[in-house]
Amino acid sequence: MRAATFVAATCAGVLCASAIGHNQAPLHKPSSVEANGTSPLLALHKNLVEITSTSGSERNASDFLKAYLQRHGFTVETQDVEANRQNVYAYLGSSRSTRVLVTSHIDTVPPYWPYERKGDEIWGRGSVDAKGSVASQIIAVEALIKDDKIAEGDVGLLFVVGEEDSGIGMQTANKLELSWEAVIFGEPTELKLASGHKGGIGFTIRAKGKAGHSGYPDEGRNAIDLLVNGLAALQQLRLPSSREFGETTLNVGRIEGGVAANVIPEDASATAMVRIAAGTPARIMGLIQRAVAEVSYDLSVEFKAGRSPIAIDTDIDGFETIVVSYGTDIGNLQGDHKRYLYGPGTILLAHSDHEHIKIKDLEDAVEGYKALITKNLERSAKPTNV
Ligand SMILES: *[C@@H]1O[C@H](CO)[C@@H](O)[C@H](O)[C@H]1NC(C)=O
Ligand SMILES: *[C@@H]1O[C@H](CO)[C@@H](O)[C@H](O)[C@H]1NC(C)=O
Ligand SMILES: [Zn+2]
Repeated sequence: MRAATFVAATCAGVLCASAIGHNQAPLHKPSSVEANGTSPLLALHKNLVEITSTSGSERNASDFLKAYLQRHGFTVETQDVEANRQNVYAYLGSSRSTRVLVTSHIDTVPPYWPYERKGDEIWGRGSVDAKGSVASQIIAVEALIKDDKIAEGDVGLLFVVGEEDSGIGMQTANKLELSWEAVIFGEPTELKLASGHKGGIGFTIRAKGKAGHSGYPDEGRNAIDLLVNGLAALQQLRLPSSREFGETTLNVGRIEGGVAANVIPEDASATAMVRIAAGTPARIMGLIQRAVAEVSYDLSVEFKAGRSPIAIDTDIDGFETIVVSYGTDIGNLQGDHKRYLYGPGTILLAHSDHEHIKIKDLEDAVEGYKALITKNLERSAKPTNV
């Protein structure tokens, strides 16, 4: 949800192709890890979680996926996003244009937590967000290929960098100049189809005071007091809600200021994030600006790029639905495709120091992705005229 900084891909917007040509290895050639007796799904998930791929350092994960997908018979392209950051795009044969796209992100938030199997659970950074989705998406596509349910031109797989920090990976994917009838985004939705996600906007509120000796408060102006009053006003603020997305919520996540107990602080600031359930970022900005200005003109607010709430398709039978309160890459991918958001695990564990997923959920997600892919392919192809 950070403000998006656009950096041109070093391949000047075109793909740095590293396709392996069309005489591919047979599908489902077992790798050494899989020969180990563990399921291909768990082996792939383990390999992914064992690789550190904090936002900005995704290269080992993209290299792994490229090799894995090539070994499993896909044509693989990499797309440079920034120095040493690559998206991975895979498809069957030579049809890089496909009807359905399955996509997720390979970066994780810091810090890295190692892979650990605990009974029927798998712990570790990314085990939920989003390597649980990545692994079950790939295994689902492989299963459909094996069962002759999909063929060349049906499904592409796109794994992007930078979802957790800026969305730059998916923004760059627009330069692939591809379009799809439907795009299935993988994020933890507890195996439900998300009907939408809240928008968001981040901001920093700064208080400018006047330093002085704490024994003479009238000589200075206390920036921490100003900031606290500003934050108290924000807590009282009525933010818009909607039936679809629920309440707009505000979280002050970081606060700093002052130097010592006997000094009147000159500076104080807090950073906060609003999850928007109704209205636009501009409207929320207005409400916050006004509330803060009513407290003191020594308070200023600086906003990051915001996003409005996004509605997502749920027109596939057999799934429960859920509204999620986090941002995704959905808004970063341009096009008039149908969009679905689905994946194993819960966001409540993602980003935590106890991130973990149930093995059963990973397995169920494979079935869920298979259903989403096949039901979208069963629709008649979209008319090509405009
Ligand atoms: C492979 O087998 C070894 C023991 O032979 C075991 O320690 C290891 O965890 C297994 N790998 C996976 C991915 O389960
Ligand atoms: C990527 O892999 C190399 C080789 O195993 C390793 O030295 C490096 O530390 C890894 N990078 C990250 C960010 O973990
Ligand atoms: Zn995620």
